[in-house]
Amino acid sequence: MDRLLVTGGAGFIGANFVHHLMANTDVRVTVLDKLTYAASREALDGLPTDRVSLVVGDVADSAVVDPLVAAHDAVVHFAAESHNDNSLNEPGPFITTNLVGTFCLLEAARRHGTRLHHISTDEVYGDLALEDSTRFTEATPYNPSSPYSAAKAGSDHLVRAWVRSFGVQATISNCSNNYGPWQHVEKFIPRQITNVIDGGRPKVYGAGHNVRDWIHVEDHSSAVWRILTEGRIGETYLVGADGERDNLDVVALILAHFGRPADDFDLVTDRAGHDLRYAIDATKLRTELDWEPRHADFSEGLTRTIEWYQQHEDWWRPHKQRTEATYAAQGQ
Ligand code: NAD
Ligand code: DAU
Repeated sequence: MDRLLVTGGAGFIGANFVHHLMANTDVRVTVLDKLTYAASREALDGLPTDRVSLVVGDVADSAVVDPLVAAHDAVVHFAAESHNDNSLNEPGPFITTNLVGTFCLLEAARRHGTRLHHISTDEVYGDLALEDSTRFTEATPYNPSSPYSAAKAGSDHLVRAWVRSFGVQATISNCSNNYGPWQHVEKFIPRQITNVIDGGRPKVYGAGHNVRDWIHVEDHSSAVWRILTEGRIGETYLVGADGERDNLDVVALILAHFGRPADDFDLVTDRAGHDLRYAIDATKLRTELDWEPRHADFSEGLTRTIEWYQQHEDWWRPHKQRTEATYAAQGQ
């Protein structure tokens, strides 16, 4: 595998994946990205120009997608509208990008026989009870809650149908919540870190008992590369690093880092349809593909992430005011 097309490679996880490829492989990468509000060209700055190029374009535009897919050995498909709150305010772009975009890539992969890895989310399974110890596995039935997760669930179904009916050479991974550098300030961890840097208070939805299963983005990248190169065609792999924490716990760690009192946060209006708990059983990935996370100490990873945001204020500052204005208008 020499030439890789990475859709959404200017977003949070896609950009980290491209950095991972530059550091750990010899592949050449073309990033296809529409450069929405969530993208940052800066995240690709400094990468070797003889190995990474950027095409600005829409995954839902087959005239753009088809020749690019034809010219690459494999596609890793990250591009998506990714934020649940936005999907509740304006679902339309989630249908176009997450469903039509995946359809366009599948059709191109079918025409040209190109290998495709589809990046998905644990949210397709809906949520788990707080008091339960059950975790999601590859056999858990789909039960998405939000327009975002429903569109991602639909995109997974499209991939499986194209594998079965047309023989497309595809795999799927469903990962839990990522954290790390280059994550947009609309998301939970960067929002709270930057609130505190600004002298404000973290904003916690509802009572703050919702649980997310945190994984460092670098571990997600290594898992995707392993599945792309060693995964079985047609298979789905769940990706997680046993990082369950409730939101109050995460906020307490951020406040402690800054020497602020543990109760120095606001409880705000809850998200509609807010999923209670996600938890991943990654046994299949660990045993079949011998994958292990390398950043499983969440407190340590969070500290490095906080330091990264302290050092990259120039990057997040331009997005902060507009993001907070949107949240404030919703009572959040
Ligand atoms: P992000 O919002 O940070 O980045 C998305 C990227 O896709 C942006 O660069 C954006 O410009 C690009 N994009 C959006 N619409 C596009 C279009 N029509 N054509 C081309 N490019 C387009 O998202 P992220 O958090 O990096 O998530 C990446 C992928 O990983 C998504 O598929 C998401 O569902 C999945 N995922 C995310 C998480 C998480 O915790 N963030 C966890 C599991 C899975
Ligand atoms: O599980 C994987 C998913 O993780 C990905 O598919 C999504 O793309 C990604 O955005 C993320 O979804 P969540 O909705 O879980 O992430 P978010 O960062 O928006 O919220 C995490 C938790 O924090 C959730 O319980 C909602 C809560 N929250 C969020 C924000 C922005 C707050 O309490 N306060 C906030 O200000």
